[in-house]
Amino acid sequence: MTTDVLVVHGGSPLRGQIRVRGAKNLVSKAMVAALLGDSPSRLYDVPAIRDVEIVRGLLELHGVRVSDGEEHGELVFDPANVERANVDEINVHAGSSRIPILFCGPLLHKLGHAFIPDLGGCNIGGRPIDFHLQALREMGAVVDKTPSGLDITAPNGLQGTKFELPYPSVGATEQVLLAAVRAHGVTELRNAAVEPEIMDLIAILQKMGAIINVHTDRVIEIEGVDRLRGYTHRPIPDRIEAASWAAAALATGGDVYVQGARQAEMMTFLNLYTKVGGAFDIDDSPTGGIRFWHPGGELKAVLLETDVHPGFMTDWQQPMVVALTQARGLSIVHETVYERRLGYTDALNQMGATIQTYRECLGGTPCRFGRRNFTHSAVIAGPSKLLAHDVVIPDLRAGFSHLIAALAAEGTSRVYGVELIRRGYEDFEAKLAALGASVEKG
Ligand code: EPU
Repeated sequence: MTTDVLVVHGGSPLRGQIRVRGAKNLVSKAMVAALLGDSPSRLYDVPAIRDVEIVRGLLELHGVRVSDGEEHGELVFDPANVERANVDEINVHAGSSRIPILFCGPLLHKLGHAFIPDLGGCNIGGRPIDFHLQALREMGAVVDKTPSGLDITAPNGLQGTKFELPYPSVGATEQVLLAAVRAHGVTELRNAAVEPEIMDLIAILQKMGAIINVHTDRVIEIEGVDRLRGYTHRPIPDRIEAASWAAAALATGGDVYVQGARQAEMMTFLNLYTKVGGAFDIDDSPTGGIRFWHPGGELKAVLLETDVHPGFMTDWQQPMVVALTQARGLSIVHETVYERRLGYTDALNQMGATIQTYRECLGGTPCRFGRRNFTHSAVIAGPSKLLAHDVVIPDLRAGFSHLIAALAAEGTSRVYGVELIRRGYEDFEAKLAALGASVEKG
């Protein structure tokens, strides 16, 4: 149940400076990769978020010694004693994260066996794992579905293969990478995802001794090797968190400097930010970041279609929609990555927004959800004056958008279920305070 409540006194602009650290969606995979090494790995800039705690717990259950390094946010992983974990103990983590599925490859290489509990993560669509299992089977894995999870073995080890993903799934691409780096022979993955977090994972695997070629047209070729060593790595910054604060600056008419944010991973976001009428300034010194602000005047309605990289990230969509409620005219949103990622707009409507959702593909590019009856497009009429309303957070990114809406709205809102935000936003209450927000625990 929703135990954590934040009381938000909204209506004032967010102003000030906050910092983002390593990307949640890279750090968690980097932690899994440490399992593959035969010497310790060292990861810097690890954010203190719930998803990291979950992966740390799972690694420790499998015998990896995880310790804090000297630097704040530095973790050291020693995989010298990787062992089978107790199924009941693994199941304590059941339903809490999507990451356990990525343990398959490393555990099969180390132990010849992997048990994967029922998966959790945000409720934003079916979130199947069919591509993962299909790829693992192609590589020689045998998957047995049990009432409590998946029991996976590889009687003859994992073999290189040629595999084409039906859709460039981030997780399935990572699955193939983590399994193929130590498989026998060469794996050719077609229609792979090429998100910056995946490129950073490839960089880590290369440091460990893997041989991975990224070709044009979403083709990744992995030459299996016999052994991998540990890595030392400083991850790319969290471009989702950076964009979330950028959207918060725009929605509240504020000015936020996001230390650690980098232009390279945010180009598509920055283009849309400009079109809406937001302003930014990039400091690309080593300790730099990006300043995002509302330059005054009216924001402009836009067409926003989410897509796999290099498109507009699906995780940028929800925070930006809050800013779009303040733009003059009709904005169109077409969500093409997840089939059910617009449900959170009901809460925004309760706060005074005018958002209508549709099953059709609006925006001009037909997607795979158009004919399947999924409500995956929206029209936002603005600008709307947002007014305080109590809201219950449904998932991580929608949760942050509810929080932004409450900060932008006149009056006092109670935001229930903020523990979900802790999955991916480090210290967000302290950051809100640093930005001058008036929030307190309920
Ligand atoms: N899909 C399948 N079958 C599969 C795998 C995926 O049909 O076996 C479909 C999904 O249902 C979805 C699409 O493919 O419609 C894309 O899913 P993908 O596998 O790319 O997503 P993921 O790996 O589960 C990661 C991030 C998400 C982010 C997406 C897209 C992590 C832990 N999660 O999820 O982040 O939205 O990639 O970029 O890396 C978040 O951080 O809040 C979050 C949800």
